[in-house]
Parts: sequence; C-alpha cells; structure tokens
Amino acid sequence: MQTFRGKIAAITGGGTGMGRELALQLVNEGCSVAICDVSETDMSETARLCGERSASGATIATFVADVSKEADLLGFAAYVREKLATDHVDLVFNNAGITGGGSIVDGNRAQWERIFNVCWFGVYYGTLAFLPLLLKSEDGRVINTSSLCGLWGSVGPGKAYSAYCAAKFAVRGFTEALINDFAANAPNIKSHVVVPGYIGTGIVTNSADLLGRDAPPTDMAVLRKAIGAHMAPEADIAAYTDEQLKAFAAERGRKFQENARTSASKAADIILAGIREDRWRILVGDDAEFLDRNLRVEPERIYTQEFYDMLVAEANWGS
Ligand SMILES: NC(=O)c1ccc[n+]([C@@H]2O[C@H](COP(=O)([O-])OP(=O)(O)OC[C@H]3O[C@@H](n4cnc5c(N)ncnc54)[C@H](O)[C@@H]3O)[C@@H](O)[C@H]2O)c1
Repeated sequence: MQTFRGKIAAITGGGTGMGRELALQLVNEGCSVAICDVSETDMSETARLCGERSASGATIATFVADVSKEADLLGFAAYVREKLATDHVDLVFNNAGITGGGSIVDGNRAQWERIFNVCWFGVYYGTLAFLPLLLKSEDGRVINTSSLCGLWGSVGPGKAYSAYCAAKFAVRGFTEALINDFAANAPNIKSHVVVPGYIGTGIVTNSADLLGRDAPPTDMAVLRKAIGAHMAPEADIAAYTDEQLKAFAAERGRKFQENARTSASKAADIILAGIREDRWRILVGDDAEFLDRNLRVEPERIYTQEFYDMLVAEANWGS
C-alpha cells in the first residue's frame, strides 16, 4: 500500500493517544477515517483536530462504542458503511485498549476480566465486524495492537500483570495466524501486528479512570497491593495512607506520559510506515526492538531478576 489517499479507515480507541494520532495523520494524507471510542468528548476533540488537518476529500466520523461488546462493533461497521456511503473499508485498526495489574490469586476478578475483554475481544470482534467490508477492498489491512506484554508475560519481577499479558499474547497469536488464513481464504487482506514499546500517552490514567467507572469497586486492600507493586522494593506500604497511595498512582500516570521514549505521534508514523512497507510485524520504539532481540538469547532466563536488571542497566528500562 503506497498511499493512503482515497482509502477508508476505521480506528477503535480513536479518542486519545495513538488512535488519535493515526486519525490525524491519515486524514492529513487524504484518507477518510471513522473512529469509535467510549468517550464522546475525547472523540469530539479528535474530530476537531482532524477538521483542521484533513486534506481535501477526507472526512472524519465518530461513533460511541465499547469494543468489548460485539453488538457495538457491528453497529460501528454498519455506521461506517452508511455514513461514509461505502461498500468497503481498506484499513481496520483494532487499537483500543486498557492496561492494569491485578493478580489471578487475590486480585479483583471483574477488573481482570474487563482488561482481558477490552484488549482481546475488542480485537476479535473488530476483525469479525469489519470482515465483510474488508473483503470488498482491493487491498484490505487489519492492524491489531499488541504490546511488549504480548512478547514477554511480565512488566518486571513482583508485579502481577496477567490479564493484560494474556490478552496481548492472544492478539499477537491471532494476528500472526491470520497471515496464512487470509493468504488462503481472502488473499486481498493482510494482517499486521503492532508491538509498541513505551509510548507517551495517557493510558495509565485513562485506564484507571475507565476501570474505576466500569468495574465494581476494588477493595482497598487489593488496590494497596496493586499500587504497592509499583513502588520501590524498600517502601513500607503499610506506612502510606490511602490518599497518599492514590496520589502516588496519579503521579505514576503523569510520569508515564512525560518520560516516554517515543511520542504517540512518532508511534503513528512508525505504524503507517510499517503498513506502507508491508511489514506484518511492526515494532514501535528502540525499547521494543531491544526487548524483542534479548528475549530470544536465552528464553529460560527471561523471568529472572537478572534479566530484568539487565534491561534496567542496558536499556534504562522502567525509567
Ligand atoms: N502507551 C503505551 O506505552 C502502550 C504500549 C504497548 C501497547 N499499547 C497499546 O496501544 C493501544 C493504544 O493505547 P494508547 O497508549 O494510545 O492509550 P490511550 O489511553 O491514550 O488510548 C486508548 C483509547 O482507547 C479507548 N478505550 C478504552 N477502552 C475502550 C473500550 N472498551 N471501547 C472503546 N474504546 C476504548 C480510550 O478511551 C482511549 O481513547 C492499546 O491497545 C494499548 O494497550 C500502548
């Protein structure tokens, strides 16, 4: 795919972050874009920014949908067909996601399943809902966002992250398997798996807000443990009040965005370049490339403290 001009794209999670940046760059190149998100307010801002940047002929449309619900994504696909008066879609970015910790042993089950359902079923339902429209494209692309947590089932020793890792491994496995499935059964469609490293978006704060809204309240003991896992090993969690721990979590979200190695705009550049170059595997950022290389050296060691210490020392990991 050499140009996005005149193409039609659908993006899930287009309200903020990488989804918004993808929409901005695509309309700027003359591609018509439809975004969905749970936040109407954030999507209005994306639409306003797209209006300022779009090349002639490119339109932007918005639709409220929760990607964990198949009916919402079927509604989004029907809306795209009608609103953009099209019988096909060329690019489907299954990008929406939320992050968060939580132990399978003593965590909050509703939150665990919420993270898994958004990150995995959002991608699966998005692919299924748009398949009839992709089949009618001359050059259809499904672009699914995984994570470093889809390569490595960890964010470091002592931290439980199994819902997010399980979902992102599923996204990667599904998208890689689609390569042969599409080649055999729908040769006009290709799939790309996106593996972002550490990208400067509001995902930590947005996810905490969304989880707080969507899942039943987590009891404070569970929350204290989850937040405490991100503090220095010598920190005495019991000495912190609930308010201090919540302030620590808010500050962590702010730092995540500020200290990122790759901006959301640069990430969108890399993703779109990967599609143009027909790469099925799109690593985003030097940290993603570093981890990817090192996971293959001695796989038996990748969940040890030594491996994590090497990441911190060699690649400034976690800073
Ligand atoms: N930022 C990073 O460092 C990073 C790293 C690896 C992977 N990712 C992945 O990249 C993708 C984009 O994340 P981002 O960093 O741009 O975060 P972000 O929070 O800025 O954007 C995610 C968007 O998805 C939306 N969303 C959340 N739940 C939804 C739902 N149920 N239905 C519809 N929309 C929903 C949010 O409202 C938000 O607008 C996610 O899949 C994330 O897991 C991000």
